[in-house]
Amino acid sequence: MEYDDLLKLEKEYGESFYLSDRGLFRKNLIEMRDAFRKYYEKTNIAYSFKTNYMPAICEIVREEAAYAEVVSEMEYELAKRIGFPDNEIYYNGPYKKKHFVLDMLKHGVRINIDNWQEYEMVLEGAKVCPVQIGIRCNFDIGNGKISRFGFDVDGKEFYQVLEGIKGQENISLIGLQCHFPDRDLNLYANRVKGMKRVMDVLGDVELGYISFGGGYFGKLPEGFQKSFSVPVPTYVDYAKVVAGEMGEYFAQRNIQPELLIEPGSAIVADTMDFVSKVIAVKEVRGRAIAALSGSCYNINPSAKGMNRPITVLHCPDREGDVRDWDMAGYTCIEDDIMHHGYRGALCVGDYVVFHNVGSYGLVFKPPFILPNVPVLDISKEQVEVLRREEEFQDIFGAFF
Ligand SMILES: Cc1ncc(COP(=O)(O)O)c(C=O)c1O
Repeated sequence: MEYDDLLKLEKEYGESFYLSDRGLFRKNLIEMRDAFRKYYEKTNIAYSFKTNYMPAICEIVREEAAYAEVVSEMEYELAKRIGFPDNEIYYNGPYKKKHFVLDMLKHGVRINIDNWQEYEMVLEGAKVCPVQIGIRCNFDIGNGKISRFGFDVDGKEFYQVLEGIKGQENISLIGLQCHFPDRDLNLYANRVKGMKRVMDVLGDVELGYISFGGGYFGKLPEGFQKSFSVPVPTYVDYAKVVAGEMGEYFAQRNIQPELLIEPGSAIVADTMDFVSKVIAVKEVRGRAIAALSGSCYNINPSAKGMNRPITVLHCPDREGDVRDWDMAGYTCIEDDIMHHGYRGALCVGDYVVFHNVGSYGLVFKPPFILPNVPVLDISKEQVEVLRREEEFQDIFGAFF
């Protein structure tokens, strides 16, 4: 991608836009799944819609016969519009509305219950028709934190649910799920131990699926890997620990449940870039500041403070000063800094391309100050607009 290519895109789509590479998303999905399948054939991906629910991406998940992992009615509706059958939609999330749970139970959506109150909804649903459920499991994975997701598998309520289900003809326990956000490989080994322990407790209950949630690292440029306090594993590293160990365990017990993983970031993060333009430069008491047309809210605000990999494309007819530049976003938030201390030349008209913004960038963008910018796929000859620029009506339509 050259400066002039971005200039051309700017003329049509504005000074900031996302670039999406859907081919890379498909490749990542297949590669990660194949890595797991090498160790345990009956593995599939339930793609975490929330991480990046761009329909053009979710359609690829369906085309590749992977599943949808959703956490809200909105995401469920999207999965249905794309054509996922109900039994290929996994419904997690800590907030499930009762009327929706009852409806989903009737439809055979794979619900993983998170707490006692959801279990009570299931009991109500089972009065109407036979229902199948999974349980979200919470145990210590040795990360020094107490996760908020799922049932404490050493707690009273977990055992009460298991006992309760045994006594209910209309309820079948068909799955177990766990999710922890830690991406460290060692902690995956502890997840495996934890899930095996739960399966031992369940004995010969016939389970259809065991899901290991999300939280895997994707592919990161070498320099960027150093920003993390732990080594960045590959898909194969994760597969060896999760599918390798679970595969052996299943074989010992002579069972073959489906093994699921729910990656978001691991397969979508590196498939999107964010392009932003330098619109002003200034110096304030020795601090060099470049004002950009984008914001840290375009590139995942929860990773504020972390310098992402960037490429600067210099305006050919001007030369900027070499400084340690802070790249400031368009919002009025003092710490809306998209990149800290970039050492190099910058001047008005330069483009800064932020890489690895495919996870939680698009979906976390608030309607604060400006609507969101377009998403373009430029991997083919023709530019394809995957999402147009948002307009006044997109933000204010619900008020009028
Ligand atoms: C239940 C569940 N599955 C999958 C994911 C995806 O995680 P990641 O994008 O880190 O892969 C999340 C993220 O919060 C989650 O809560």
